[in-house]
Amino acid sequence: MCGIVGYAGKERCVEVLMKGLGHLEYRGYDSAGLALQRDGRIERITEVGQLENLTRTLAGRNGDLSLVRTGVGHTRWATHGRPSEENAHPHLGGDGRVAVVHNGIIENFSELKEELEGRGVSFRSETDTEVMAHLIAERVEAGESLRLALVGVLQRLEGSFAVAAVSVDEPGKVVAARRQSPLVIGLGEGENFLASAVQALLGETNEFILVENGEIVEIADSSVEVFTSSGEPVERESFEVEWDAEAVELGGYDDYMLKEIHEQPAALGSTLLGRIDTGGVVDLSEVGLDLSEIDRVVVVACGTAYHAGLLGKHAIEKLARLPVEVVIASEYRYADPIGDSRTLVVAISQSGETTDTLAAVQAARSFGARVLAVTNTKGSLITREADAVLLTRAGPEICVASTKAFVAQVAVLELLALALAGSRGVIPDRELREIGRGLRLAPEKVEETLELLGNRVEEAVEVFEDARCSLFLGRGISYPVALEGALKLKEISYLPSEGYPAGEMKHGPIALVDEHCPVVAVIGEGLVREKTLSNVEETVARGASVIAVARDGDKGAERIARLVLPVPEAPEILAPFVCSVPLQLLAYHVAKDRGLDVDKPRNLAKSVTVE
Ligand code: G6P
Repeated sequence: MCGIVGYAGKERCVEVLMKGLGHLEYRGYDSAGLALQRDGRIERITEVGQLENLTRTLAGRNGDLSLVRTGVGHTRWATHGRPSEENAHPHLGGDGRVAVVHNGIIENFSELKEELEGRGVSFRSETDTEVMAHLIAERVEAGESLRLALVGVLQRLEGSFAVAAVSVDEPGKVVAARRQSPLVIGLGEGENFLASAVQALLGETNEFILVENGEIVEIADSSVEVFTSSGEPVERESFEVEWDAEAVELGGYDDYMLKEIHEQPAALGSTLLGRIDTGGVVDLSEVGLDLSEIDRVVVVACGTAYHAGLLGKHAIEKLARLPVEVVIASEYRYADPIGDSRTLVVAISQSGETTDTLAAVQAARSFGARVLAVTNTKGSLITREADAVLLTRAGPEICVASTKAFVAQVAVLELLALALAGSRGVIPDRELREIGRGLRLAPEKVEETLELLGNRVEEAVEVFEDARCSLFLGRGISYPVALEGALKLKEISYLPSEGYPAGEMKHGPIALVDEHCPVVAVIGEGLVREKTLSNVEETVARGASVIAVARDGDKGAERIARLVLPVPEAPEILAPFVCSVPLQLLAYHVAKDRGLDVDKPRNLAKSVTVE
């Protein structure tokens, strides 16, 4: 939550900071701001709301900032203090000598604020961040360098943060530090960068250094220095990121969400690449864990990643016959969890930096579990906390609502299920290989789904025009798919939507059903198909308009539904992929029909770095 950028180098500072913030807006968009070093002072420019407001303000400046070479920027998801001009970052200390941008929370800010007020400092915002600006400024005024001032102040702070600062007294320099919240350095020629995440800087550089917990960084146009918390210089290896700049551009699409939905075949293709051969044999030796020693699996995750975990449970229990528990990370962390070294804890996180998921990993480590991180972000915090990592290779996901990362997570969990099954020998190899060959078809079946759906989903929007809520139903593997469909719809269209097991609906949610509560039913195949159809009939009898996600040509679904969103016939292991696509598109079109910003839904942020 909140994105920060820093730049030192050429006379393109404002352009780099604004582009970087544009790529970090998924982290929050309550306000945005810059602090720029110019003519022996710091200029703070902020706007409430999305970055485009700040862009407009800068355009009105007629290029008078074109000579600026150093600065910091921020895009905010409000924690302390409502979204307002005063609360927008950067925050200034010492009559504007120092400017600070911050991602995280300073937990002891009230005490520090009181102390500063006692010394006559007056505050202009309600934020926790402003205390940092004043504390640093006091030390700078007393003659300390910006870096040493930051080192001193960090010792007084409790909480989590990534922070970057500039000072009037040290032109051409940006100083930064991190504790828990992420921070990377981007390396350039005659210029260097700082950001909360690598995608902020794609197009500028592919070479990065990860800042470790507790470290302090100082960048200038041609130098990058990293120090330990006690001020010792440290050498850090840089690493390359393969993502290219195009991956974070819209590329002809209206929104990132639509783009990312259409990128799913490619995301699945890359995620499976090299991990399953043409014969259907899975190779997850990259994990480096002895899977045959595992006797229990616990999945921890938040949001969409939790739903991927529920689908993983189905696959692992069915194929490997291992018990799997799926727990919401914010619950797990305080649940005093039980386990031992034979427990495999799988922590799923697209960003790799969700605070609750990281805390759940620490809870698991405390009882000696082996922790496997499933993440889309190479080098992210979770990769450093886990014993092993499986990367989803979905490419950067920008839209707050997750789509392609979700299917990639499910693909990784299904690979894991096949690998665990292989190591346990509970299913004949021949059968496993056949299932594996089915999984290899994921990219083409998702492509086929997109083609088959054509404009059908847009027709479904009509059903939601005067809806006051909606119910998503499914059984078995279709139940987590329904949960994820309901989450997608509520997060981007703001329509109350509940996902429920179809068979359980009679025990409560059926009371919601009337002509203003459409039902979206994921019909599924196999054992539960007939049962689901009967459950859905019960809602039709009570006036519901039903949209069914069903195999193309499914007569039962066609009979009861107002509209069928068809999916191609596919092996069972692919059901989560093909059935999720129509629900993602449904959420997208309903939200667009309501004139909403699908990529930046209100109140949400993609990366939740606070509890
Ligand atoms: C937020 C996002 C969701 C995401 C969840 C977990 O709520 O809006 O899209 O699923 O965080 O994020 P993670 O990065 O840990 O997968």
